[in-house]
Amino acid sequence: MGMQNLEELFQQKIDKEVKIEPKDWMPEAYRKTNLRQISQHAHSEIVGMLPEGNWISRAPSLKRKAILIAKVQDEAGHGLYLYAAAETLGQSREQMINDLHSGKAKYSSIFNYPTLTWADMGAVGWLVDGAAIMNQVMLTRTSYGPYARAMVRICKEESFHQRQGFETLLVLSKGSKEQRAMCQDAINRWWWPALMMFGPRDSESTNSDMSMKWKIKRKTNDELRQQFVDMIAEQVKLLGMTLPDPDLRWNESRNHYDFGEINWDEFWQVVKGNGPCNKQRLDARRKAWEEGAWVREAAQAHANKQRTRKKAA
Ligand SMILES: [Fe+2]
Ligand SMILES: [Fe+2]
Repeated sequence: MGMQNLEELFQQKIDKEVKIEPKDWMPEAYRKTNLRQISQHAHSEIVGMLPEGNWISRAPSLKRKAILIAKVQDEAGHGLYLYAAAETLGQSREQMINDLHSGKAKYSSIFNYPTLTWADMGAVGWLVDGAAIMNQVMLTRTSYGPYARAMVRICKEESFHQRQGFETLLVLSKGSKEQRAMCQDAINRWWWPALMMFGPRDSESTNSDMSMKWKIKRKTNDELRQQFVDMIAEQVKLLGMTLPDPDLRWNESRNHYDFGEINWDEFWQVVKGNGPCNKQRLDARRKAWEEGAWVREAAQAHANKQRTRKKAA
């Protein structure tokens, strides 16, 4: 069969909502785009454990500590499902991790911002996991089968993450004057970076058209961002807090909230590795990898022993 026919058949499958599976024929660019996206997503889950891990030892109560540990563990699990999904596209996990450590692979820029107070645990859950969910709910219907299936479970856990974040802020919002100020300050610092999580404007996003045609994405960056603003602008009222945007207002004719301009210079600076914590995050990952070498070696030695025993039996 000629390439032309293979491509046509592939597109017909996508149009009919048939999932693409690892052993199916796929255009090289489809494989590469998925591999890049899924591995970046895996890296984001793993690096994303760091800003919250920062507060496990300082959680204000045993209950809060248990909730935060569970959440951070969930993120580790998300990273592992996603590395496994990415491996089905023909790259080893070791290669992906090397690319992360060398700075070649990207992860979500949001994790390059510092978590300064306990209220940040609330703001991260509510805004960062909240923005991630918008994207991930769409991805439960993405065209690549292993990615779509991994997203179903991940989304269930993410919605718990968002609610625990909101509830953390709700408690602070009803607390002392200092607690309310801490709550507002965390919202102020996380709001704009959370909006940046949806990526560049559609007019400047290079991969968008093909990703829509191949149903890797089903909504554009700007559509998802608007959906997020509309949701959060209502929820923030329940906290009795505000979003740090003087241009935020309901637009009757659009049936959406209008909002102010994102600082795109800051966006590109952080993407390029000049964010407040880029270096710290990568150093922490490399250190964890080196210090965990003995665990990988021990697991390998154990697996080899089991294999030899099975052969002998
Ligand atoms: Fe996650
Ligand atoms: Fe999460």
